[in-house]
Amino acid sequence: MSAAVVALAHEEDGRGHPLILLHAFPLHRGMWAPQREALAGIGRLVLPDLRGFGESPEGEGPATMDAMAADVLALADRLGIGRFVLGGLSMGGYVSLALLRRAAERVSGLVLADTRPGADTEEARANRRAVIERLREGGTAVLEETMMGPLFSERAPSAHPEIVERVRGWIRAVSPTGAAAALEGMARRPDSLALLESYPGPVLVLVGEEDRLTPPSESDAMAAAAARSRLVRIPEAGHLSNLEAHRAFSAALAEHWKACADRETP
Ligand code: MLT
Repeated sequence: MSAAVVALAHEEDGRGHPLILLHAFPLHRGMWAPQREALAGIGRLVLPDLRGFGESPEGEGPATMDAMAADVLALADRLGIGRFVLGGLSMGGYVSLALLRRAAERVSGLVLADTRPGADTEEARANRRAVIERLREGGTAVLEETMMGPLFSERAPSAHPEIVERVRGWIRAVSPTGAAAALEGMARRPDSLALLESYPGPVLVLVGEEDRLTPPSESDAMAAAAARSRLVRIPEAGHLSNLEAHRAFSAALAEHWKACADRETP
């Protein structure tokens, strides 16, 4: 079982059936700014910073996906939220699946964006541990060097330079120890495909067609595994599809959230 729960920083807007959105590595809740604007008025939107990112404190030891999920459940309890729609992008998707493992009965609908259901390969684990070593030696420059390219489509630097620079600024400000803990946590995550197969609720799978980190084939597998799924491929977007193609992303998310909320309130 996980170590002590961390009290997460968060922001929220609105009233009604909640949607909790979990950010990618190594970012923070600020990445949801376009969705915060586009989704206003649908329900209660809750945006946490996962442990070690943004304004949330770090926990003890590796930030496993299960420990992060426990933090999110504790936040929901603290906010008096029973059932909620849960969505995550990339690492946020891994944490969403971990939360499903702990408390599927709390999840009225799921959104898995630019993520994958599987565990790391041995090679991916070794790569993460090499980055952890470099974080210890040299701070966050290694994250900028290894992630800035793959996080975006090839078109992004010319099509959306302001988004690319905003994300670069966020990555430069990351806590090296917080990032290292999350990398070790991601390396330890289990395979969740069977878990996804057993979830009876509605699942929206979203992916940028030009995602180079978690390519569309991963989303195809998730959509095929889930009992009730809808797959939306977003053109002209890479891994951070919620930023590169925020209108298409928000439109699909809004439709799913409304449908889940309608089912909750007879
Ligand atoms: C993310 O965007 O959250 C990360 O790229 C996920 C990962 O490293 O597996």
